[in-house]
Amino acid sequence: MDHLEEIRSKLPIEDLVGSYIQLKKAGRNLKGLCPFHNDSRPSFTVSPEKGICWCFVCNTGGDIFKFIQLIENVDFRESVKILAQRTGVKLPAFRPEAQDERMRTVAANRAAVKFFAETLENSKNHYGYFLNRGLTPETIEKFRLGFAPDSYTALKDHLLGAGFTEKELLLAGLISQRSIADKSTYDRFRNRLTFPIYDHQDSPIGFGGRIVAEGEPKYLNSPDTPTYAKSLVIYGLNWAKETIKKKDLAIFVEGYMDVIACHQAGTENAIAVSGTALTPGQLKLIKRYTGNIAFAFDQDAAGMEATRRALELVSGGDFNVKVIIVPEGKDPDDCIRESPEKWEEAVKNAVPVMDFYFEYAKKQFDISDLEGRKAMLQFMLPLIKMYPLEMERNEYLERLALILKTDAKVLWRDLKKTGVKAPAQSEAAEAPKAQAFSREEYLLGFIFEHPEFYPTVADNLIDSIPIDSLTEKFYKTCKRAYNSASTLDLNAVFGELSPEEKERTNLYRLLIEEQYPDFSEEAAEREIANLVASINRQNLFKVQKEYENQIRLATDPGEKTLLLNRYNEILKLKTKIN
Ligand code: UTP
Ligand code: MN
Repeated sequence: MDHLEEIRSKLPIEDLVGSYIQLKKAGRNLKGLCPFHNDSRPSFTVSPEKGICWCFVCNTGGDIFKFIQLIENVDFRESVKILAQRTGVKLPAFRPEAQDERMRTVAANRAAVKFFAETLENSKNHYGYFLNRGLTPETIEKFRLGFAPDSYTALKDHLLGAGFTEKELLLAGLISQRSIADKSTYDRFRNRLTFPIYDHQDSPIGFGGRIVAEGEPKYLNSPDTPTYAKSLVIYGLNWAKETIKKKDLAIFVEGYMDVIACHQAGTENAIAVSGTALTPGQLKLIKRYTGNIAFAFDQDAAGMEATRRALELVSGGDFNVKVIIVPEGKDPDDCIRESPEKWEEAVKNAVPVMDFYFEYAKKQFDISDLEGRKAMLQFMLPLIKMYPLEMERNEYLERLALILKTDAKVLWRDLKKTGVKAPAQSEAAEAPKAQAFSREEYLLGFIFEHPEFYPTVADNLIDSIPIDSLTEKFYKTCKRAYNSASTLDLNAVFGELSPEEKERTNLYRLLIEEQYPDFSEEAAEREIANLVASINRQNLFKVQKEYENQIRLATDPGEKTLLLNRYNEILKLKTKIN
């Protein structure tokens, strides 16, 4: 038994899925709210028998490994690792040095966190800096804040002494090389207050370092390392994730200090992207915990721009977005220091993002004159255009028309003219596909679920004409197996399918089970006949069109005759099936 099978045998899919969402028995299967879209009734089906789970609304799912990939946002290899650990199955070593690198990087960071924290404790001045900014000793401890001494070698010497190599420290981004020519190394963080950055599993993977007095850059961050990809990390998520889930809301603030001040004040669902704009990868990570986001960015130009860019990304992505209005010129940290109650008020009064923009625009532009109204229109249209649903756009256009004292129809025309494209739907939030499974796939479901009906299919499906490429192999394999045994032995079919294809047959069967519960034999027969007829019709129509084209293009008379003959056969077949 290979290790994948061993993991499968130890971890029933219903146990795995059941540890993420609540499942209830429904016939042979179990059902729960789909974790991959905003589900209002239990659409997520788990089949213990087939070892797969699937949502027939957003069409997502798979076996235990696929489920982990989807819900933990990891690749296949990572999913195997996670489940191996969970089941206690030992994996054959795969590039052990990579695993080792990651472990060593995390270990080096952990040692650095400790070193910086100790340095801070021994430095009254710098410890005082945090106290002066209103942090309590407990908060300083919780966020593992520290201080990197004003030295080029203090950390390096300490960590070399603890058994790390220079290469490992370079890889962890804790030390830097002077230049390509001069390979000597020195501490990256010097004379800076340090904010360790943890991934959502609580491993320290990098640092932000704040300058003590004035200077540039104000914050220095770790470079991207094997364990620290900025575009995927969210500062504070390790501390915030439980609360985000519980409150079903994630609050994005701009900075390290904002996150920390928020948590200390009891807003424990605050997080930040550290030193970058929000990325799709980060949103996907958030989507695991909530579909509601509130932005509490500065109201200055940079903050407005950050909000707008974030909105652009988020609006296509199935998130509800609100804006927390922080008093002008302040960030949440300042606001909390001034008055925690005011901050609490602001959070409570978060407004839907478009309301925020309408209010902002009304203040910004003088709509009593035409120039002002034009400016407001130009400000609002690109924002409205970001929304993927026409219904949403319509609503905002009507609201805008009312303010601008014009007709929404006129604005629709203006909207179409603006160069801004509607956002591509982000991967995390692909709209449910209406017809996710083709007729061929439904028919395969019947065949695999009730192989005794296969002879009827074989007799009536016109397979001298091409079937769609996704399902072709399944049909050909069934036909071969049937022809050699004159009944359809599914085991023979499965023997010729790859593991992925075999899983696909399970999905087709689950599809039938789900869409046709309590199915009688007569009903199945009828449905199969309908499917066969409509597949035949659809395929013959396709072929007919193709021949018509070819005939039109044919120049050689002999060829033309041949084509015409075949074309007539197709037409005859068509009358037969109609
Ligand atoms: P701000 O300049 O608003 O700083 O940058 P801040 O968070 O209010 O910091 P304090 O309160 O003065 O200590 C917001 C965030 O942008 C990132 C950091 O994550 C910072 O917290 N940033 C800023 C950088 O990464 N590098 C910089 O040079 C500046
Ligand atoms: Mn600040």
